[in-house]
Amino acid sequence: MKLIFKKPTIETQKAMSHAALNPFTGRGINPEIKSAEEKIKELTGHDQVKLVNSGNSAIISVMNALKGPFILPDQGGWSGLKKIAEFLKREVYFIPTEKGIIYPDLLEEYLKQLPVLPSALFITSFAGYTAEQPAKELFEVCCENNIILVEDASGSVGDPEKRLCNGDHAHIIIASTGSPKIVNVGNGGFISTNEKKILDNSRFLLKTLRADPITATGISTEIKKAPFNLFETMHACKILKKNIQNTFHEDKRGINVIVPSSDPKAHSRILREKINLEGRSIITTCPIYDRLMEKAVCIEIKNLDTDCLNKENLSEIKEHVETTVFNTSNNEYPMHPKLKW
Ligand SMILES: Cc1ncc(COP(=O)(O)O)c(C=O)c1O
Repeated sequence: MKLIFKKPTIETQKAMSHAALNPFTGRGINPEIKSAEEKIKELTGHDQVKLVNSGNSAIISVMNALKGPFILPDQGGWSGLKKIAEFLKREVYFIPTEKGIIYPDLLEEYLKQLPVLPSALFITSFAGYTAEQPAKELFEVCCENNIILVEDASGSVGDPEKRLCNGDHAHIIIASTGSPKIVNVGNGGFISTNEKKILDNSRFLLKTLRADPITATGISTEIKKAPFNLFETMHACKILKKNIQNTFHEDKRGINVIVPSSDPKAHSRILREKINLEGRSIITTCPIYDRLMEKAVCIEIKNLDTDCLNKENLSEIKEHVETTVFNTSNNEYPMHPKLKW
C-alpha cells in the first residue's frame, strides 16, 4: 500500500515561489490578496472576505467582534473555538448533540431554557470531520432567534452540493487553509460574511493577523482544486463507511471515518504501524473533543492525497481496520461490489 500525505500541488508550489520572487512594491491592497479574496467570494456567495494567516486567527477575529455568550457543540467541534472563547473571556454554553450532530429542533428547545440569549452558534461543517451538520436548518433557527451562525468550513470549502460553506446558510464562514486541509496551502485562513460590521469591529486584529501575499497566491491556486479534492475525499469515506462493518454516522457525508473500539490506544498504535506514511499519521485516538467523545479510532482520509484514494488502498485500509479493531477477516465483509470507483 502506497499512501501519500497531502501536499500543495506542484502548480501551487510554483505559484507561491513565483510570488516570493516577485514581491509587490506598489501602493494599496496587494493584488494577490485581492484576487484570493475574490475567489473565496465566488465560492461562498458572501460579499466581504478577509484573508488571515491561520484558521485560529479567523476565529479570534470573529469572536473578538462578538459579545457572547457563544454556543458550541458538546463534541465534534474544534478545540480552538473553546480555547479562544476562554482567552477572550466569552461565556460558552455546550449544546448536547447526537455524537456531534446538532438537531435544529433541539437547538430551538435549548435556546428557550438558556438564562441569556447567546450572540452566536459556532459549528464545524462536519461534526468530528465525519458527519455533515444540517447547516441550512440550523441557520433558519439561528435567524428566527437573532443568533449569528458561524460555520468553520475548514473541511468543506468547495462543497459540490453547496450545502456546506455556502453563504446562504451561514452569517459567517471561517476556514483554515493550513495543512492538511481541503484548501491545502500549509498556512492561512479566511473570514467570509455579508456583515461588514463584524470585520470593522476587528479591524486592528485583522490588520495584525493578515495573510502574506505568498499564502494568498497559494490559496488562489489551491482553491481551484477544492471541489475535486472534497468530492474525492467524501467518496472514499462513503466507500469505507459502507464497507467497514461498524462506523459512526455511516450514512452521513464526511471526510474521515470513525470506528468504535474497545481499546482505542492500543488499536491506534497498531494501526499507525500498519498504515505507515513515512512518519506522518492518519490515525486519531478518541475520545477527543475535536472528533467524538467515544471510545473510537479515526481514519483521517482527509490527510491523504486524492491520487492514492484508489480501490486497492481503500481495501487495504478496510482490512487493517477490521483485523485490528474488530478482529475479523476481510472475507466476512467483502468490499461492496456495486460501488463505483
Ligand atoms: C476545524 C478546524 N478549524 C480551525 C483549525 C485551526 O486552523 P489553523 O491551524 O490554521 O489555525 C483547525 C486546525 O486543525 C481545524 O481542524
